Amino acid sequence: MTALPKTGAAWAEVAERMRQMAGGDVKWRDGKAAVYVFNAGPEIEQVQKEAYALFASENGLGPAAFPSLRQMEAEVVGFGLSLLHGPEGAVGNMTSGGTDSILMAVKAARDFARQDRGLTGPLNLVLPRSAHPAFDKACAVMEIEVRRTPLAGLLADPDAIEAACDDRTIMIVGSAPCFPYGLIDPIAALGELAQRKALWLHVDACVGGYIAPFVRMNGAPVPAFDFEVPGVSSMSADLHKYGYCAKGASTVFFRSEALRRRMIFEVGDWPASKMVTPTLAGTRPGGAIAAAWAVMNVLGEEGYRAKHGEVTAAREAIEAGVRSQGWRVLGEPLLGITAFTREDLNPFAVLKKLFERGWVTSAVTEPRGLHLMLSPVHLAVADRYLEDLAWASDAARADGGKPAEARYGG
Ligand SMILES: Cc1ncc(COP(=O)(O)O)c(C=O)c1O
Repeated sequence: MTALPKTGAAWAEVAERMRQMAGGDVKWRDGKAAVYVFNAGPEIEQVQKEAYALFASENGLGPAAFPSLRQMEAEVVGFGLSLLHGPEGAVGNMTSGGTDSILMAVKAARDFARQDRGLTGPLNLVLPRSAHPAFDKACAVMEIEVRRTPLAGLLADPDAIEAACDDRTIMIVGSAPCFPYGLIDPIAALGELAQRKALWLHVDACVGGYIAPFVRMNGAPVPAFDFEVPGVSSMSADLHKYGYCAKGASTVFFRSEALRRRMIFEVGDWPASKMVTPTLAGTRPGGAIAAAWAVMNVLGEEGYRAKHGEVTAAREAIEAGVRSQGWRVLGEPLLGITAFTREDLNPFAVLKKLFERGWVTSAVTEPRGLHLMLSPVHLAVADRYLEDLAWASDAARADGGKPAEARYGG
């Protein structure tokens, strides 16, 4: 256990110690991380940091005290809804991240089920096997049963989802895209199911929300995945992923205020004034709101199209390269995630070898494969990655392909 220093040190000295600590971290500015960090280049990093610093002490919990933050949040929500075909009356909030957005959407759906549909007793949530564990976390917190359904061709299977639903189902889920494969689930078919059975469909666009609209503008055949699909009730879309905003920023959207109001939490029964919070957080860091607003204004539609064009080019170059080395790309990714497999090698052993060369990337397990979540910076290092992948594959083969554990987070 480290005790608090008795005497404080000079900031310059503390900063230097921090820089030294960071010396052992993945060299993400050089493009060595294809997970955890979304790197749109040094100019955007500077905007994030300076905008964050301008509002680092302000608190979004108090919109009356900080109308600046209230306006910035409202505008960021507007940017998101306009990109995601939010209909008249659609609403949303900024949250601290994808897990927060998902947890709050599940809370809204649960309270809607209890208060508007009159459901009592145990409840369940039905989601495809590829949906993010944030849903499991939300269900664990709220004691909701999780029903994961098998995939069909790596995508959510609407028939399997329908079969798993009953009259205690509070939500069904589709991902746009899912994290493991980067593929967009058949949201239109899920929307049709949701409408036919009066189910709450949440689209988890934490990864895709701020890339898919621009990739579509750039000409890719991105299928309908957002509020354009009439059966979609709520969506999560992370600003701190492909929105290239500072960490601690996501958006959660609802088709109408009647759905959103079940997210909002109010407590009046304590010895201070009534507390009303829209999201999980109490204190809401002003810096995260301000940095998101700033990055979005600096990039604009054209800036995002250009950055995401680079992601697409990086993905296509890497996919062509890995195929030529004997890997098989899983499905047909359209956005920034790609995963690839091969049977004649242990991909986890290759992953471990790549780590020796400084690459921090992740893995899929069904089937075993390598996983990349690409940023604009990767366009410049795609060739280097492919060279190191060829080396790592040979090295893993020479080692006899000893297995390594694949892990995301923790
Ligand atoms: C599809 C998807 N949903 C939700 C999340 C959770 O987001 P966060 O890590 O910001 O809580 C992630 C994170 O990678 C994700 O890939």
